[in-house]
Amino acid sequence: MGPANLIATVGSARSLRGEVVLPGDKSISHRALMLGAIAGGESRVRGLSAGADVASTASCLRSLGVEIEDRRIAGRGMTGLRAAPGPLDCGNSGTTMRLLAGLLSAQPFESELTGDESLGKRPMDRVVEPLRRMGARASWPPLRVGGGDGLQGIEYQAPVASAQVKSSLLLAGMYAGGTTEVVEPVATRDHTERMLRAMGASIQAMDRRVRISHTENLAPIDIDVPRDVSAASFWLVAAGLIPGSRVRMPGVGLNPTRTGFLELLRRSGFIVVASADPEAAGEPVGTIEVGPASELRPFDIDATTAAAMIDELPVLAVAATQLPGTSTVRGARELRVKESDRIAAMAEALTAMGADVTAQEDGWVIRGPRHLEGATVDSRGDHRIAMAMAVAAVMADGDTEIEGAECVDISYPGFWDQLDALRRGHEPAC
Ligand code: S3P
Repeated sequence: MGPANLIATVGSARSLRGEVVLPGDKSISHRALMLGAIAGGESRVRGLSAGADVASTASCLRSLGVEIEDRRIAGRGMTGLRAAPGPLDCGNSGTTMRLLAGLLSAQPFESELTGDESLGKRPMDRVVEPLRRMGARASWPPLRVGGGDGLQGIEYQAPVASAQVKSSLLLAGMYAGGTTEVVEPVATRDHTERMLRAMGASIQAMDRRVRISHTENLAPIDIDVPRDVSAASFWLVAAGLIPGSRVRMPGVGLNPTRTGFLELLRRSGFIVVASADPEAAGEPVGTIEVGPASELRPFDIDATTAAAMIDELPVLAVAATQLPGTSTVRGARELRVKESDRIAAMAEALTAMGADVTAQEDGWVIRGPRHLEGATVDSRGDHRIAMAMAVAAVMADGDTEIEGAECVDISYPGFWDQLDALRRGHEPAC
């Protein structure tokens, strides 16, 4: 994000009540734009995320010659992208940079991908290395891809569980000769696979193994993007822990590779009700309702479960401060290379508020319940840290000042207004 440094002053809440219209799912929005851009015809996409990350993807695609207007993407076909006039600015968005790296590595022209200070520090060798193995021209830093000869499919045993790496290779794999296969250490979100299947690509997924064949054409899509279940996590934790609360969230994506945290919260005593609606382009959707939890229990997250709730771990750390006993998160070293070092950021901020948190190399040990007190905390420009600390703040005594509060716009513009509306118990207008 830019240099602005808004401070949000957040006081405790007596209860949170109302219905929340969540932003469109960030992961699905990126994919709808990118796959729509190379489809053979016009795609219709309603409910795209209005966050800054998805805006970065749209603006990069426009620089590559794609017309995107309102809900319409004029697909240019698999070979219709054209060289951008300059570097492509991916802003704060790792998904934009890594997925575009795969797509653009297969183009006959070279592209350079840049981003903000945080993105400049994030590891890109995890995509550069396998793309090179496929025969792509790819180097980093700075990230430059494309302009080489044709790609060849490979079988890739991914060393890290990353949907961004998997998706990057699947995008490149559509252009490669033969088949491209990715084997993950732990299964990650499968939005790319679902959307590609809905668009007619030849893709098979079994367990942790995904295989895609050379693809000549993708059919356009028509999709209502489900609302973002990761955005729901903040209200779930807050409403579950503040007596008298009740929050309802319709139209939420319930893809099982994303809902691990719902199960975890249920096992910890949270009352979460999810009902199913019809699917949206292969993605399960439903309504989530949450009320105050009872008989709370601590949780234990390890490497096999962490991947399915990687973005929710900061707010789960907040929940752990209120659960009786010791909660642990292990096997989540990836948190150190997100938009900020989320392990350090949460340990520092929660400790400042009186929580008992020990940071580990790959997670935290958190002993609860602890009474939280308002403090000044640093979001480190990371949207999920700012929103997780807002949840801690509404449960604390006194005011909390959250520095860098504007960063919520990365995935959840309107977050602060929504918090005020829930606090007042109103149905928000947006
Ligand atoms: C995402 C994958 C995850 C997640 C990120 C979005 C995606 O990152 O943390 O917010 O849309 O593919 P990794 O794949 O790097 O774990």
